[in-house]
Amino acid sequence: MPIELPSDEVRAFSFKVWSYKMGEQVSLLIHLGDRLGFYAAMRGAGPILPAELAARTETHERFVTEWLLGQAAAGLLERVVPENASDAEATYELTETAAAVLADEDDSLSFSAGAFRGGIAPETVDAIADSFRTGIGITYEQQGPSAAAGLARMTGPWSRLALTDIVLPALDGVVDKLVAGATVVDVGCGAGYMLCELAASFPAARCVGIDPSETAVAMAIDRAAELGLDNVEFIAADGADLAPDTAADVVLTFDCLHDMARPDKTAAAIAAAMQPDGTWLIKEIKSAGDFEKNRRNPMLALMYGFSIASCLQSAMSSPDGLGYGTLGLHTAELTELVRSAGFEQITTHDLGDSTNLYHEVRF
Ligand SMILES: C[S@@+](CC[C@H](N)C(=O)[O-])C[C@H]1O[C@@H](n2cnc3c(N)ncnc32)[C@H](O)[C@@H]1O
Repeated sequence: MPIELPSDEVRAFSFKVWSYKMGEQVSLLIHLGDRLGFYAAMRGAGPILPAELAARTETHERFVTEWLLGQAAAGLLERVVPENASDAEATYELTETAAAVLADEDDSLSFSAGAFRGGIAPETVDAIADSFRTGIGITYEQQGPSAAAGLARMTGPWSRLALTDIVLPALDGVVDKLVAGATVVDVGCGAGYMLCELAASFPAARCVGIDPSETAVAMAIDRAAELGLDNVEFIAADGADLAPDTAADVVLTFDCLHDMARPDKTAAAIAAAMQPDGTWLIKEIKSAGDFEKNRRNPMLALMYGFSIASCLQSAMSSPDGLGYGTLGLHTAELTELVRSAGFEQITTHDLGDSTNLYHEVRF
């Protein structure tokens, strides 16, 4: 059969598919902008020439020019060619809005550039493909140090920056307890950014972070040392092994219950480890528990990408894994899980985080 030119329908579908490839390539450019300090150097600098950016970041002008053009093409930077000037005299600007998302890691809840890791290691991609055949996923530890660091920076803005000003004040009596000196346990603490923030904000609190990933725990220990904190410790352990005599006043599980192979066992351990008047704060992904309803989320495919690459991997990393994955532990499922562990009260807070809900759980 002679080859025919594609129909308009096929061309339109092809455009959709290549848009995802463009996302992959632009993701790499964002990673480079973050890694090489381009966004940081452009923040507040106004319109800037490629040579100036290259000088500020000690990089090569030719590559910097290509990166700037790519960023302008992606609509992430403003490009202006002054009247009667040549193309080579074009300037590039990171607007204040763009800086909030791409440069301002310390103060912006919208900071996102840290989530762009420059791709997944080929061996991790192989392991993900294998999981489809074996039915067993890889743990966060097996996803490697760049995954732990990327995750910490991805969840950082809402976990770290919003914690003391927005999240904790929404809970009944928790701030007062922390000021007075509560025992806080962060289960699934990852690289510990959030718990270090909490320990620094509430010096009288005794803070313990636990996570089975030795890599993440080592990063958490380093961070606590960097910040000179003496009221926080980190332990490499499964949440299900939380000691029953912990007597925790506050337990945190942030963005991690759906990643656990057996969150039911962790929930039971938390119930045993908590004071009768304690509070368990659960941060979980906003999900309706119904695919068609979830379609209202324009980022739904991103969520499934995260799930297959990370969350479901971890949730299926043991043969008895319950396999919730990114969107699986929706509010109804979560309510059942905590009730089965012996908790009666669950109050759900929507605090303006576009991805997550915050559930305040008590006996
Ligand atoms: C998406 S990360 C979230 C980390 C951190 N809470 C945050 O908000 O940045 C999920 C974490 O859950 C941890 N995790 C997985 N299974 C666990 C288990 N059984 N017990 C405790 N933590 C677990 C992983 O090692 C990983 O660090």
